[in-house]
Amino acid sequence: MNEKTKAYLLEAYEGEAQNREKKENDPWNPGFHLSPPAGWLNDPNGLCQSGGIYHVFFQYSPQDPCGKGLRSWGHYTSCDLLNWQYRGIFLCPDEWFDRSGVYSGCGVVSGNEIFLFYTGNVKEEGTFDYILAGRQANQVMVLQRPDGTMEKKLLLTNENYPDNYTCHVRDPKVWKHGSSWRMILGGRKKGDRGAALLYESEDLYCWRLKKEITSKIPFGYMWECPDVLSFGEKNFLSFCPQGISREEYRFQNVYQSGYIPLKGDIDHALEADENCFTEWDMGFDFYAPQTFVDQQGRRILIGWMGLPDIEGEYGNPTVERGWQHCLTLPRVITEKKGKLYQNPPAEFLKLRQDSYPLSEGQSVEISVPYVEGEFTELTDQPFSLVINQEVEIAWENGVFTLKFSNESGAGRKTRKAKIDGLASVRVYADSSSVEIFVNDGEFVFTSRYYPESQKRQMVLEHSAGKACLWSLKPMKVCLRMEEKD
Ligand code: FRU
Repeated sequence: MNEKTKAYLLEAYEGEAQNREKKENDPWNPGFHLSPPAGWLNDPNGLCQSGGIYHVFFQYSPQDPCGKGLRSWGHYTSCDLLNWQYRGIFLCPDEWFDRSGVYSGCGVVSGNEIFLFYTGNVKEEGTFDYILAGRQANQVMVLQRPDGTMEKKLLLTNENYPDNYTCHVRDPKVWKHGSSWRMILGGRKKGDRGAALLYESEDLYCWRLKKEITSKIPFGYMWECPDVLSFGEKNFLSFCPQGISREEYRFQNVYQSGYIPLKGDIDHALEADENCFTEWDMGFDFYAPQTFVDQQGRRILIGWMGLPDIEGEYGNPTVERGWQHCLTLPRVITEKKGKLYQNPPAEFLKLRQDSYPLSEGQSVEISVPYVEGEFTELTDQPFSLVINQEVEIAWENGVFTLKFSNESGAGRKTRKAKIDGLASVRVYADSSSVEIFVNDGEFVFTSRYYPESQKRQMVLEHSAGKACLWSLKPMKVCLRMEEKD
């Protein structure tokens, strides 16, 4: 461990220790979503499964719940997606090439080994715009040696990107492609155009630029966190464009996150058709998702239940309680007729405790904050579910809405989406979030919110289908590293 690592970890763990108890005692501490032990969390990173163990890394800066500290990677592991062990800070900014933060990236499994890739962010001192000058975007691979020590290997620097790119090139996602490897990076071109760069490698060490992938006409000034998802012959490019104008029924957040079906495989795909961009999520808090294929062959997505640059619009009152943000539920992605569907994995059914059938006009009070609701056989009649008089989930005349009262939404008001017909709704309410899966996961609405009470009163105002609620037990998340299994 070098001196920089020691200094970073000392400060980070001190920050964690200061706020951890406050967070553990916070009624808004999530029961079945991964969140930072203390301080700030953003993107999920390095998602993979190896030897049966799921690894979830995350952008972490424990020193400051507002995210002002330098980013590191925190680390959780699990055998079953329900019991989690915090394993501490795995990567921190301790080299010249990542001195301003260990930014987002991925993990790939090759044999018994996990290779991690991330962007080492460097902001040079001086007067720069940090777009065209003053920033280094270093792509780095991390190797774990058999003796447990780790080596960071610098793979690509600003010199390796095309001349028409700014210094914003980041978020490597790597996957096996036939007998070789591909890496995709998100970027901002000069002239403010978002795009992605595809690299290829035979050995994960040496990377060559293969091509650029962008939209037919400009679609945002920057693309963050790209990913490529394949289902048989069908390929999709997922990314987070910044700079798209807001509309009434789509693109309602400051930045977007979605996917475009590609024509042909990634090596041969032409420009992505921005008219076919589908948002992953229609709620207030969803960004920077990453997917991986687990050992059962499921394509699983996890997103950040948050967004950058929302100050002034809405907020998260947990900051005063020493922490901010959480990840979404893991979601199994399936493909049907060129569309991607998201649903919680079957494992989450194991959290169900007591069941409460519910009929129209009826109100049920559940004494825990963790609740699942399933509404099926809906037949295009108006639907409306109210939670604690603070949240209204409704569908009528082809429009789905999610509304929060002022206090509980902390500035969040309404999100809407055009949904032609309604067949099913599945709601997962945690102590400070709600995720709504509509029509078997064709649409999802994800939001943080801050209920006053930790009991859940659910009122089904309209529905012409079957409805059932379940109280849920929380996941088990062990934060004490000394209790490692
Ligand atoms: C997305 C993002 C990434 C970057 C990371 C830094 O939220 O901006 O592009 O790598 O966050 O924390």
